[in-house]
Amino acid sequence: MSNTHWIAPSILSADFARLGAEVDAVIEAGADLIHFDVMDNHYVPNLTVGPVVCEALHRRGLSVPIDVHLMVRPVDRIVPDFAAAGASYISFHPEATEHVDRTIHLIREHGCKPGLVFNPATPLDWLDYTLDKLDLVLLMSVNPGFGGQQFIAGALPKIAAVRRRVAASGRPVRIEVDGGIKVDNIAAAAQAGADIFVAGSAIFGSSNYAATIAAMRTALG
Ligand code: DX5
Ligand code: ZN
Repeated sequence: MSNTHWIAPSILSADFARLGAEVDAVIEAGADLIHFDVMDNHYVPNLTVGPVVCEALHRRGLSVPIDVHLMVRPVDRIVPDFAAAGASYISFHPEATEHVDRTIHLIREHGCKPGLVFNPATPLDWLDYTLDKLDLVLLMSVNPGFGGQQFIAGALPKIAAVRRRVAASGRPVRIEVDGGIKVDNIAAAAQAGADIFVAGSAIFGSSNYAATIAAMRTALG
């Protein structure tokens, strides 16, 4: 795992019929985290996979942490299941839970690192009373629900605003960007202040995962 910039392939764009092999392949290709997108056809208009699949990957003995991105409502019911299934980070959308502070504590109590996720139109005000309890802020650069969408450039000043807040906090909070990240825009996201880069279609849609991840690292400098 590199010190500052982490690349997190999203399994959403993997071949689900060969998921274990796909995850092994991106780790072999240099992934720092596995980004695990959980969708419920309720909070977002798509349906993916749950704790059973997370546990199956975890049992495989992955050499990198699993970064669970919950796009579900409600949130709390499913948190212990993902903790038991081997998640390291668990991130959720504040609009999707009744009690944001409670959900953050629930994730922590179950031994995982809590993250808060911001949709493109979600104001950063949600950080006012939460940043001191978070390990991760995840900024969506697409509307959640699908892979392969176009990067929304408005995410860049938002990343920069979060970077300023994190610097002021003095805490080592990670800033993750998710949606439409490619070799040609990853540097701009890093420049704005992101240090974890989710990429689904850019990696799994490429013919050579290692070459794509290497090109991302080169772009990151
Ligand atoms: C979208 C998901 C993303 C998605 C990114 O709701 O949260 O993680 O897989 O896919 P790309 O990189 O293809 O935009
Ligand atoms: Zn995601």
